[in-house]
Amino acid sequence: MKLRLMMMLAVGFALSTAAWADGDATRGKTLAYTCHGCHGIPNYKNVSPIYSVPKLGGQQAKYMIAALKEYADGDRVHPTMHAQAVSNSEQDRADIAAFFQGSNPVNSQVIGTPPTAVQVCVACHGNNGVGISSRYPTLAGQHADYIAQAIKDYKSGKRKNPTMSAQAAVVKDEDIPAITAFFSKQKTLCSTDEIRDNDGKCK
Ligand code: HEC
Ligand code: HEC
Repeated sequence: MKLRLMMMLAVGFALSTAAWADGDATRGKTLAYTCHGCHGIPNYKNVSPIYSVPKLGGQQAKYMIAALKEYADGDRVHPTMHAQAVSNSEQDRADIAAFFQGSNPVNSQVIGTPPTAVQVCVACHGNNGVGISSRYPTLAGQHADYIAQAIKDYKSGKRKNPTMSAQAAVVKDEDIPAITAFFSKQKTLCSTDEIRDNDGKCK
């Protein structure tokens, strides 16, 4: 009787983990097989312009779902990612995002002194670069050159998001190195290979 109850609890726990962010992380792991080819390779670069392929391990699920939909619909223009995302269903996106978000414990430590220029950013991206809710991308541990490219793309209008376009418009070019240095040295994000190899956790 006791054993049976324990087994039921174990099954219940497995189901609730799999249903993380309304996505099935186990199915997501299978769907994400091809993604590791770029997102799993340390310091792999986008060509023209050259910048690091973003880390996705530990990234916020709702943000990733929105990003994948934007690539698929062409609202976020990137031919390679369009090709990756175009055939995904809504369920596929939720499952992939659940797998990449993983089950990282929330890291609340702030490393170093935040420069003045990030004071406005932390309202949404968190004091330590971990998005305050699943809609806000985590910047902690992201490649500095990718963060810089994203700010540039919001400024130029290549990336369109009313909230971030307004934020990026007032970021001074000379403040970008301090902003990217601060967020990239915080801890949270990792490569997709780390998420796969560490059972849903960044190291
Ligand atoms: C051939 C290389 C390549 C492959 C394979 C690839 N990606 Fe990407 N991915 C990129 C690049 C480069 C970017 C940055 C594009 C940009 O600047 O918008 C990116 C960006 C993303 C982003 C946005 C991240 C952010 O922080 O905004 C997501 C989400 C994403 N990829 C998911 C996936 C998924 C899911 C797969 C597998 C189905 C995949 N990618 C496969 C190269 C790749
Ligand atoms: C009011 C909330 C808010 C504030 C304040 C804010 N952001 Fe954002 N940020 C967002 C949202 C929402 C997104 C996702 C937009 C999208 O889907 O493209 C985002 C996306 C980003 C991205 C892209 C992340 C990725 O993975 O591609 C970067 C980089 C970024 N913000 C940097 C900053 C910086 C630097 C500041 C401060 C100068 C800042 N943000 C202030 C809400 C905010």
